[in-house]
Amino acid sequence: MTSNYREIAPTQLDAGIALPDDITLTRIGNQYTKATLITPAQTYPELKSWISGHVDFVRSLYQQDRVLLFKGFSPFKERKDLSEIVGLVSDSKALQYAEPSTPRTKVLDDIYTSTEYPKEQQIAQHNEHSYSDFWPKKLFFYCEQPAASGGQTPICDSAEVYKLIPEEISRRFESKGGVMYVRNFTEEMDIRWQDFFNTNDKRAAEEYCEARKMGYKWQDDEKLMIYQVSQAVLTEKTFGRKVWFNQAHLFHYSNLNEEISAYLIDVYGMENLPRNTFYADGSEIAVADLDRIRKAYQDAMFRFEWNKGDLLIMDNVNFTHGRDTYSGDRSLLVSMSEEDGISNYNA
Ligand SMILES: [Fe+2]
Repeated sequence: MTSNYREIAPTQLDAGIALPDDITLTRIGNQYTKATLITPAQTYPELKSWISGHVDFVRSLYQQDRVLLFKGFSPFKERKDLSEIVGLVSDSKALQYAEPSTPRTKVLDDIYTSTEYPKEQQIAQHNEHSYSDFWPKKLFFYCEQPAASGGQTPICDSAEVYKLIPEEISRRFESKGGVMYVRNFTEEMDIRWQDFFNTNDKRAAEEYCEARKMGYKWQDDEKLMIYQVSQAVLTEKTFGRKVWFNQAHLFHYSNLNEEISAYLIDVYGMENLPRNTFYADGSEIAVADLDRIRKAYQDAMFRFEWNKGDLLIMDNVNFTHGRDTYSGDRSLLVSMSEEDGISNYNA
């Protein structure tokens, strides 16, 4: 479902900001999730120079639409062009990827590869770092090489997801005080505690947990359990909307296929799974409720095709992202900026 956006855009831009005449804006998406597509009208300007020359416009458009997809421009000449763009359209510098959920490779100081996760497995929708009490407000995804097939980055509007989740379920999360994330780091599964804390020093890891109000317990010399309670919902400030903002469905063992989760439960036991979620009070979350949440994401989801040189700039509080399965090689660069955290919200 698309519509010509050009007519309404100028009235919604900040005063004094004109719509450049060498691009076309198109609203794309579905009834729940919408994005703004920016394409060159005739020529194919280089993406970095075009954005550099229209920073106020891009910032103003972002302020109202929150998901900007640049397509059809000439690609960046080098990876550091992305760093430059991140700097230009962000209110603060790019962030380091602390407390990783999954492995990423740093390719420049503030640029990472997208999550290195098996291509035959889908990555469920999530707001980046929403299992924590701090997160980036803005995300940048740049397509260096699209997959041979699949590999899209579907997105959902988090406020629509909240509305699509039955009230009975969201109320349960809110009244129980949010989500408890439990991780068990072992040598053989998932990421190692040394990689999560970015140190080999146990005491340093413990101090980090203490400072971040995470619980921790050494199960033996190398096995570390950590747990943390975080928000289920945020009231977003600019638009005043309630957004579903957690990864209960993604960290829960039911996110894995049945064969794998049955194997893990067999090997580690329910309490020692590499990752799992509970309500904040430690009580179990019903799989049926998580499946209903997954359906809300499924219903709200919008996906587009990646082409080389495409850039997605998106709001990490108002929107979620995920990754489809794919074949062939795929290279997406990721950067995150504008640190935000629970202290800025009345959760
Ligand atoms: Fe992500």
